[in-house]
This record gives sequence, structure tokens and C-alpha cells, in this order.
Amino acid sequence: MKYLQFIGLASVVFLIHAFKLENTFQKQVPVKSIEERVDSVMKLLTLEEKIGQMTLFTSDWAVTGPTLREGYREDIKAGKVGAIFNAHTAAYNRELQRIAVEETRLGIPLLFGYDVIHGYKTIFPVPLGESASWDLDAMEKAARIAAIEAAAAGLHWTFAPMVDIARDPRWGRICEGAGEDTYLGARIAEARVKGFQGDDLSKDNTLIACAKHYAAYGAAQAGRDYHFVDISERVLRETYLPPFMAAKKAGVRTFMTSFNELFGVPASGSRFLLTDVLRDEWGFDGFVVTDYTSINEMVDHGIVANEKDAAELSLDAGVDMDMQGATYYNYLLELVREGRISVARVNESVRRILRIKFELGLFDDPYRYSNTEREKARVFAPEHLEAARDIARKSIVLLRNEKNTLPLSKKIRTLAVVGPLAANQKDLIGSWSGAGDYKQSVSLLDGIKTKLGTTVKILHTEGCAITGQDKTGFKNALALAKTAEAIVVAVGESADMSGEAASRSDITLPGVQEELVKALVATGKPVVVVLMNGRPLAIPWIAENAPAILETWFLGTQAGHAIADVLFGDYNPSGKLTVTFPRNAGQIPIFYNAKNTGRPMDPLDKYTSKYLDVPNTPQFPFGFGLSYSRFEYGNLKTDRSVFGADSSPLKITCTVRNLGPYDGEEVVQLYVRDRVGSVTRPVRELKGFQKIFLKNGESKTVAFTLTADDLKFYNRDMIWTAEPGMFDLYVGGDSNAALTTAVELR
Ligand code: NOJ
Repeated sequence: MKYLQFIGLASVVFLIHAFKLENTFQKQVPVKSIEERVDSVMKLLTLEEKIGQMTLFTSDWAVTGPTLREGYREDIKAGKVGAIFNAHTAAYNRELQRIAVEETRLGIPLLFGYDVIHGYKTIFPVPLGESASWDLDAMEKAARIAAIEAAAAGLHWTFAPMVDIARDPRWGRICEGAGEDTYLGARIAEARVKGFQGDDLSKDNTLIACAKHYAAYGAAQAGRDYHFVDISERVLRETYLPPFMAAKKAGVRTFMTSFNELFGVPASGSRFLLTDVLRDEWGFDGFVVTDYTSINEMVDHGIVANEKDAAELSLDAGVDMDMQGATYYNYLLELVREGRISVARVNESVRRILRIKFELGLFDDPYRYSNTEREKARVFAPEHLEAARDIARKSIVLLRNEKNTLPLSKKIRTLAVVGPLAANQKDLIGSWSGAGDYKQSVSLLDGIKTKLGTTVKILHTEGCAITGQDKTGFKNALALAKTAEAIVVAVGESADMSGEAASRSDITLPGVQEELVKALVATGKPVVVVLMNGRPLAIPWIAENAPAILETWFLGTQAGHAIADVLFGDYNPSGKLTVTFPRNAGQIPIFYNAKNTGRPMDPLDKYTSKYLDVPNTPQFPFGFGLSYSRFEYGNLKTDRSVFGADSSPLKITCTVRNLGPYDGEEVVQLYVRDRVGSVTRPVRELKGFQKIFLKNGESKTVAFTLTADDLKFYNRDMIWTAEPGMFDLYVGGDSNAALTTAVELR
């Protein structure tokens, strides 16, 4: 086999090693375990080469294609870099891999990482949008397809899923996660990890996944990106850690540290997070990479005086690979020579990294993931586009539909399609859109035109830009609107207003867009507001006055088709919010599973917990989303009124009826309230959900199970336990579900 080829012009000494390695690496895998194969490589590596395996550097992208920074090629050749990120396309990565396997002393293959967050070329909805589908199979499939495309384009590793719980819509990165709820976030984390990693990492269509950003990055103070975090250990463990733990249980092979500090220590230097919890409590055996230069940033955090100390702190805490900071590259050798870091500690990290390179099959065939033919066939495959359209329409949330404004009739004669995002392609793929090519995305206008053909006269103008104060376009927009039977107005944010380093203190519609909507609504015509955005927006006027509102996030490559499917009734909307929409930014943080307080809101009593100027309630609650049908809930029952820790699971049933007039899907949600605890408990917590399909008029019994384990939390002594007592159960179509019963845990 190929190991001899890998080492190219290696010296005789290394040919001898290679001969040994050849036997070791050969595909007689069952004969030699991965551990033995890792051992054999470890024996050959110099300390410098070991440090190289712990170093991750970026590639760049110029107009002409991918490029490497000055000096990096030499670093690869010298074995000083073990992994590269942002390099992609089969041909380019193949060439870099060739350098690593043919021109380095030992021929150890490189690992190629990339932010394949919601698709590689075929772009799916931004993760927050996709989570609104509540469709775990569809989310797993989206991740699977992203992996199939990326793995053909030379990639081995995605920096996803982002599993940060986020409860502050000012924080731009809320767009990259699964919303505010821990239970749902954990289920989605599992689905995405399974999707990316598939069932066998050595296959040519799987990527290793990365649970990020560990941990509590979403709790940035005031929603400002990279800001500090100050939460209790209870909140950390109950709210922020479970999706990471779920990712670990689903087999995620890597974790990425977060930029923030926690308990006064930056995550990249936190032994508590990286060793005590991740390794000792959870038994994680993959490797940990930092976020970009976050080791170096510990100097600015003020926890170390210089980068060398930062490298020591980070290594000591448990970080295995340094992303782009070059602190291991620059200082680790000295740190070992000075006895500040042991060789054993370095070995531990290198073994973790090599193990994964073996799992990916890179030692068997380092070029397995770089195949131009496969890349051509897989990227934008028709079935990928079809899946993208399917999940995009499932992610749309119908927020309002007065007088059945929607669906619009396809027999309409004239339709005005206006707004700055109506013909836009660029923003539809959202932030972190991988190698996505926005020119391939279907605009709303094109989606509508494709659906309606030439039978309907479609009038289009922007009306205004996303930002700025220019209202001169209103006149034309109103003129078109007046001649149309119905108006679709697409407003929202540009893609770069959410994602990394994109926090906003004002989460209303930017520019004069709201004024445009007001003017259009004033015509008295049926107006459908199509929102495109990466975070919850505060849109109180629109929420209470527009005839219909569709929240469409940034839906990806197939956005226009998906929205048109919903607008004209070819798909009955089924999305539900996974994050609360506040009435205004002053309500933030606002999320459904808050605590009751000792003075819960009473409108008649001033001295209760409320604002003088805005209700406590959100504009749209977590779990909320309308359908073109109505669903009726009833008959909530449990199979017992008392259950125990060692008894069989409690069975909860209810009936859901589709009152019509369309077939459709409903997300049936189960919430629990622990009435009395040794520490105060949230007013509601999601404990289960099912997305069901009901034909017009059909009724189904939906069953959930609940065990004592599902009711556990950290008690007053910080012990993870379920406490006996009464629990209220609620079942319904959003977090305000009214249908209730109670059970006792004994
Ligand atoms: C910084 C971001 O925080 C992280 O999410 C991303 O994976 C890395 N850069 C690499 O691009």
C-alpha cells in the first residue's frame, strides 16, 4: 500500500520506519487497532512534529481561487502544520495534501476544516431558521447533504454544529444556533452531529463535526459579541451545557472553545470546562480546538501577561489544537524545554488528533476526500436542491394571517412584489454560508414568477433599500400597489447584520422599511409581509396591523421557491418559533422558561413584576406559528396520576384534530412545570414534541412518555436529581399551551 508513496523522498532511515508503518497502517485494520497505529506514528514523531499536529492554519481565498499565506507552504513541508482550514475544492486540497504526504519527513496527512454551517454549496436555511421546522429528520438530512458535498470537495471537518443556547436577539450569532431552548437545542445538536458524521467516519461522504462554542458564548452580556459572560454554575449546567453533552453522546469528534470568559477564566484557558467537565465528567475522547486566536486573546482578557503564558494556560487547561494563533507553534517547544509543559501532556493531544485522522481513513488514502469527479456530481445535485426547498418551506413561520389573507390565489390577475429583499439573491444564503454561491439562489421574485408563469401580471420595485432614509422609491411602490390585487413586501435585514461580530442594539427593521410597509398597508389591499432576517425582530406595528406576516429567515439556495410554495398554498406552513420575539429590545432577555418571581405580574397591582410601558408578554412566544388550518387539542390524559423513579415511564396522550380547511402539519409540544422545588423552577419547560401530519378533518392521538430522569435538575446542593412532588403538564401548539393536567412524582 501507499505509505511508501506518502513519504516520497524520505531518507533510508525513514524508509525503514515507513516499512514498519506500512505494515501498521495497512488496511488489515482489524489486525492492528487504531490505538496501535497511533502508537506507531507517535514513536516516529519529533517534538516539533508533534507540535505541528497541534497547529491549525488558515488558507485564504483570492478572486482566482484558494491561496496559502506566505510561509505556510514551507510550514507544511516542515511538518509544522497538521491541519488547514478554509482551504476547499477537491483540486486545491489534493495539492496541499500531496505536499503533506509526499514532501514531509513522515508523510502524515493534513486535516482540512471549514465552516460548513448550513450547507457547502447547496445552502440550507440559516440554523435558527431551520430549527423552526422542528423536523429533526430534515435537519439531519440537511447536515448529511452538506457533508456529502463538502467531503467531495476536499474537506474532512466542519466547524458545526453551533449548539450555543441564545436568548438575546441582539447577539448576531443567535442566527447560527437552534434558539433559546435547551431541550430542543440538545435534540437538534444530536441530529446535526449524526447528519455530518453519518454512520462511518471513514466513508468518503462524512465530515467530523465540532460542537461549538464551548461554552456559554450565547450568554454574552448585553448581546454584544465577544463580550464577557457572568452566569451561575447552575445556569451553565442546566441551560448551556446540555446541548454540548448531547453532541458528545451523539459521538461528536471535536469541540471548539468559545471566545468568552466564564467564572473569570477565558474558555480557552478553562481547566474546569475542558478537563473537569469535558474529559472527566463526560469522558470525551476526541480533540479540542480553540476558536480563532482565542489563546492569544487571553492576553487582552488580562489573565496572562503574554502569549507564551497563554499557550501554557491553554495546554494545561486541555486545548489540543491552536486555531490560527500560532502560540503552540511559537512557544510550545520552549515551554516543554523549560519543563513548564510535560511531553506526556503534548503526547495526549497529539494522540487525540492522530486517532481522528485514522478514523477518517486518511492514513489509508489521504486523497479520499478530494475527488473532482465526485465533487462535480455531488455539488448542487438535484436531490440536494429538492431537500433544500423542502426544509426551507418547513422553516417558514406564519406569524399572522388576518381574514385568511394567505394563501393567495394563483388566479390573481396582478400582484405587486416589492421591498428591498424581493428580488435579492445575495442575502438569501445568510451569514456563514460556506462556499455558497448566492448567484445560484432563487429570489422571492423569481420563485413567484416560476410558480405563476405568465398568467399573472407581476409588478416589481424595491420601494427602498434595507438601510438608509431614502423614501423616494415609495411613490413608485405605492403606484404599483394601487394597481395590484395583492401586495407581497419583502423586508428585513441584510445577511451581514447577523452572524459573527454582528450584534445590534436596536432590533427593529432597519432604515425606512417599516414606513414602506405602513404606506402599503394603508392602501387597504391585502398585504403580505415577508420577513427575511437572522434574529428575532421587534416589529410591534407590523405584528398588529399587517394582514399577513411570514417569517422566512434566510432560507438558502431555494428560498424563493419555498416562499412561493407557502404564499400560494402549495405548502401549508408548519414552522414554529424556536426563539421568543420581543415587543421591544427593552424586554431582553425574554424567554419562555423564566422563573415566576415572588410577585408575578398582576395588571391590577402596581407592585408586581412588570414594566410601566410594555406588557411582560412577548410579541410572539416560543413555539408559536400558525397554519392555514386550525388545530384543536383535547382529551389530555396520563395513564396514572402518580409515578415513581423506578416505575415504567408515564404515558401522556392527547388528541389533535385538524379543523381544516387544509391538510397540514402541527408541532405538538409538551411542557412541564415543577410546582415546588428545593430551588425555584421555571414556569414551563419543554419536555417533548412531535411533528405530525393531519389531513383536513383528521384527528390523531399523540402520545408522549415522561420519566423521573426527564424531571431532573440541580437541586439546592447542586445534585442532579428529580424531586418528588406535583408537576403540571401542558400540551399544545406553543409555549402558552392551555390544555393541562397534573401528575405526582413519588
Ligand atoms: C471564528 C468563529 O467564532 C467560529 O465559529 C469559526 O468556526 C471560526 N472563526 C473559523 O472560521
